[in-house]
Amino acid sequence: MWSVRMRAQKMGVHVSGAERLVEKDLEKVIRELYRRPKDFDSMVITIEKVDAVEVVKRALPVQSYDFKDVDTSHQFAVELLSRCGVREEIARRAIEILKMGPNPKGGNMRGAILMDVETGERLEPDQERGIRTVRMDWKDRKQVERELRKRGMKPFYLKRFMDALAIATKNVYCGVLGEICWSDDPDYTTGYVSCKSIGYVRVKPMKDKGNPIGGRVYFVRREALEEVINCLEKKAILIEEL
Ligand code: COA
Ligand code: AMP
Repeated sequence: MWSVRMRAQKMGVHVSGAERLVEKDLEKVIRELYRRPKDFDSMVITIEKVDAVEVVKRALPVQSYDFKDVDTSHQFAVELLSRCGVREEIARRAIEILKMGPNPKGGNMRGAILMDVETGERLEPDQERGIRTVRMDWKDRKQVERELRKRGMKPFYLKRFMDALAIATKNVYCGVLGEICWSDDPDYTTGYVSCKSIGYVRVKPMKDKGNPIGGRVYFVRREALEEVINCLEKKAILIEEL
């Protein structure tokens, strides 16, 4: 199979990223990825042969909750994380870091924080970059899109939801014990908490509209750090169905 990855920038700032794992139709996929960003001044498309692809039968099961304000959502997120085995003190620390802006130099990171589930210490080797979950895709994207439309998902949410669910599903496969995320897109206030026991729980609002700060925290066991990073960055994963 081929790993096809696109990243686009505008004035030096990352504005769009997407990827596919494909057996054929390379040209069609490249065209699709090329069309994804609305506006950019530079784009890189990488095409790489992958030898081994693992299949994950099902994505994490999905639930959605809406709350009246950010504080109530965050309280619920703490409760969800406790069901993933993350202590309250550690969950609150993660939320505070995301609220402040996870990049120590200010603003957003380029990947996720890896947090020691026992101590709350940040373990990612570079705190401006973080670690990215890459090399995953849906086996049949059209089918997943159809199913999500049938479940009533609005077009605005569809692509980013599919991407985020693929990331969260791969994370669990790689040994991430729990995850909390909200987007850095100022218009997108729905975030999620995920882990093996609760699945993928969408929570709204995780931040106020207009706020450009977001991020991801992955809770991990320190002893497993290297193995988890290697899996997140290197293993190719195809998800069969919703
Ligand atoms: N955010 C910010 N900057 C990013 C970035 C991101 N998500 N992805 C890449 N970049 C920029 C960074 O400057 C990066 O340098 P760094 O490694 O020092 O941070 C540089 O581009 C090169 O990144 P690299 O990791 O080599 O890119 P890649 O060719 O492997 O592509 C993407 C990675 C773009 C595909 C991935 O980051 C992404 O955004 N994937 C989409 C996620 C997704 O939703 N996938 C699900 C599909 S089902
Ligand atoms: P997004 O949901 O795309 O708005 O991303 C929110 C935050 O998650 C970004 O600011 C990054 O810090 C981080 N992030 C983006 N892409 C990835 C990825 N592929 N893996 C891990 N973290 C990511």
